[in-house]
Amino acid sequence: MNKGGIAVVDFGGQYAHLIATKVRRMQVHAEIIQPEATIDEFKGCEGVIISGSPSLASQGEGFDYNHAIFDLDVPILGFCFGHQEIAKRYGGEVSHQGQEWGATEFRRVADHPLLDGIEPVETVWMSHFDTVTGLGPDFVELGHTPIGRNASIASDKHRRYGFQFHPEVDDTVNGERMIANFLFEICGCGHSWTMERYLEEQLDAIRAEVGDRSVFLLASGGVDSTVAAKLLVTALGPERVELLHVDNGLMRKDESAKVVELFESWGLGSHLHFVDASEHFIAELDGVIDPERKREIIGHEFVQVFSAEAKKLDLEGHLLGQGTIYPDTIESGGTARADKIKMHHNRAPIIEEMIAAGRVIEPLADLYKVEVRELGELMGIPHDLVWRHPFPGPGLGVRLLCSDGSVEVDTIAQSEAGLAEIDIPAGIETRVLPLNSVGVKADLRSYEHPVMITGDLAWDDLLALADRIFKSVPGVNRAVWNLSAEAPGEVALLPATVKKERLDLLREADAIVMDALRASGLYAEIWQCPTVVAPLSMGGEGEELVIVRPVLSDRAMTAAPAQLPAAVLRELNEKIGALPGVAGVCLDITSKPPGTIEWE
Ligand code: XMP
Repeated sequence: MNKGGIAVVDFGGQYAHLIATKVRRMQVHAEIIQPEATIDEFKGCEGVIISGSPSLASQGEGFDYNHAIFDLDVPILGFCFGHQEIAKRYGGEVSHQGQEWGATEFRRVADHPLLDGIEPVETVWMSHFDTVTGLGPDFVELGHTPIGRNASIASDKHRRYGFQFHPEVDDTVNGERMIANFLFEICGCGHSWTMERYLEEQLDAIRAEVGDRSVFLLASGGVDSTVAAKLLVTALGPERVELLHVDNGLMRKDESAKVVELFESWGLGSHLHFVDASEHFIAELDGVIDPERKREIIGHEFVQVFSAEAKKLDLEGHLLGQGTIYPDTIESGGTARADKIKMHHNRAPIIEEMIAAGRVIEPLADLYKVEVRELGELMGIPHDLVWRHPFPGPGLGVRLLCSDGSVEVDTIAQSEAGLAEIDIPAGIETRVLPLNSVGVKADLRSYEHPVMITGDLAWDDLLALADRIFKSVPGVNRAVWNLSAEAPGEVALLPATVKKERLDLLREADAIVMDALRASGLYAEIWQCPTVVAPLSMGGEGEELVIVRPVLSDRAMTAAPAQLPAAVLRELNEKIGALPGVAGVCLDITSKPPGTIEWE
C-alpha cells in the first residue's frame, strides 16, 4: 500500500469489491487485500474497511484470518460481518438473531463525525442473520433499526467503527456520504486517485509486468478487449502487441467483419490475426447440455486456437492477453471466499493454469464495466464503441439453451403447487416452464425454472406479480412475459443441442432486437439486451421459444428488467415470430437477483 489510501479486506461477499470502487470514485486509492494477508501488505494504508461475508460471525465462521489486522494503528471500519468481528474483538457479543433483509430504517441516536450530514432517519440496506447484541466497554451505539440495536457502533479510543448495513450498495441512500466521512473525517485521506493517474500507473505496471516480452491478445471486438488492446498498444507500442480475433461461430451477425474493420481503422491491420474456427467450436459443443460444461469447452477451445496460432506465427513466448474485468473473476468464484455463480470463459481451468504459470496478462482485472468505459473514453476510443452493449466471451453459446428432453417432474410439480397458492390477477395465466436457467440468490448460485406469464397487465403490476412469485414459489428464479396475448397449448421441452441452424436463428432474432433498439432510440438507455433461444414447443407450430432480456444495470452485479414501449414489443413479436421454427416470443422481466442477466 505504498500509495496510501484504504485497504479493503475481502471476506467474500458478492459486493466486497464495490467498496474499493466506491472509495476510488471518491478519489482515494483503494486496494483489495485478502484476510489471510501478512501485516506487511497493509503497510502505508491510512485506514482499513472490512467487508461483509457469506460466513456467520456468531458461529465463528470465517475465523481463520490474520487477527493482527486489529493491531494496525489506523482507523478500521467494518460492514456487516466486519462490523460484528470488530464488536466481538473488543469485548462485545454477536448472536444468531435479529435478521433483516433489504431496505431498513436507520435511526441515529448519537452525533459522531462518521454520521456527519446524515439525517436522523435514513434508509439503509440490510442482509444479515447475525446481530451485535452487546458492546465492549469502550464502544457506543450510534444508531439502530426498528428491531436491531447496534446498527452502527464506534470507539474513538480504539478508532474502530461499524455499520451492520451495507453503505457500499446504492440502496443505502446516503451510503457514499458515510464512506466519505470515514475516509476524510476519520482517516484524513487526501485525494490520491483519479482515472488519469490510474491510467499512468497501469501503463507503468504493464511495462513492468511484460518486461522485454510481447503480448498476444484475444480481441473479441467487445468493449473490454478493445479497451485492453488500446491500453497494451499505448504501453508497449504496436510492435509488441499482436491481436487474435477468433470467429467461434458464436458471434453476432456480421460481427467478425466489423471487428477486423475496427482494428484496421486503428492502423493495427498488420498485427491482427483472424481465425475462423466456427465449425470446430460448434462440433465440440454439439451434444453438450450442461451450461458450465459449455463454458468450459468454449474457454478451452479459445486457448487451443490461441496456442495453435501462436505456434504457427512463432509467437509462443508471448503472454496471453485477456480483457477480463472484475465481475468475471468474482462470479467464477475466483476470490477465495466467494461462491461460484458461473464460470466465465476467461476463467476456464486451462486458463487458470496459465495464470498460475505467469503466462497471462489482464490489465482490466480490477475494474468494473463503468470504469473500463471511463478509461476507454480517456484513451480516446470513440463514444459509440465504448458504450456498446456488453457481449459475453462465450457469446451466443450461453444464449442457446440445450436439453436432452428430460423434465424435472417433481420440482416442477412443487413450483406449480406454489404458484397455485399465490394471488394471480383475473385473466392472467401462469405456468412453470420445464427447463432451467442460472440465477443468484443470497450470494449463491441457483439453477431453477422460469415462470411464463400470459395476459394483459400494466408494467408495475407485472413486476409486482413476478416479485410475489420469487418470494413464495419454490424452485423459481425467473419470470417471462408472453408477448402473445393467447396462452399457449401444451408446452414441451425438446431435445436440442448446439447446431449451426439454431445459432443462425438466434443470430437473426438478436439482429432484429438490436435493430429495433437502435431504431427506437432505446439502445443507449438499455444496458444490455441478450436474446435467448430455448427448445420449447408451445402446442402450435415451431420448436424454439425466443426470449428477449433488456436490462438496466451499472456494474452487472445487479440488474433490473427494462420496460420497452408496446409498439417495440409488438414489432419484436411479429418479426421474431415470423422466423422459421419460432414457437413464441417472451420478454424476460426478472431482476438480478434472483436471475442472472444471461440464462446460462
Ligand atoms: P450474468 O449472466 O452473470 O452476467 O448476470 C453479468 C455480465 O457478464 C457477462 N458475462 C460474461 N462476460 N465472459 C464474459 O466476458 C463470460 O463468461 C460471461 N458470462 C456473462 C454478461 O453478458 C453480463 O454482461
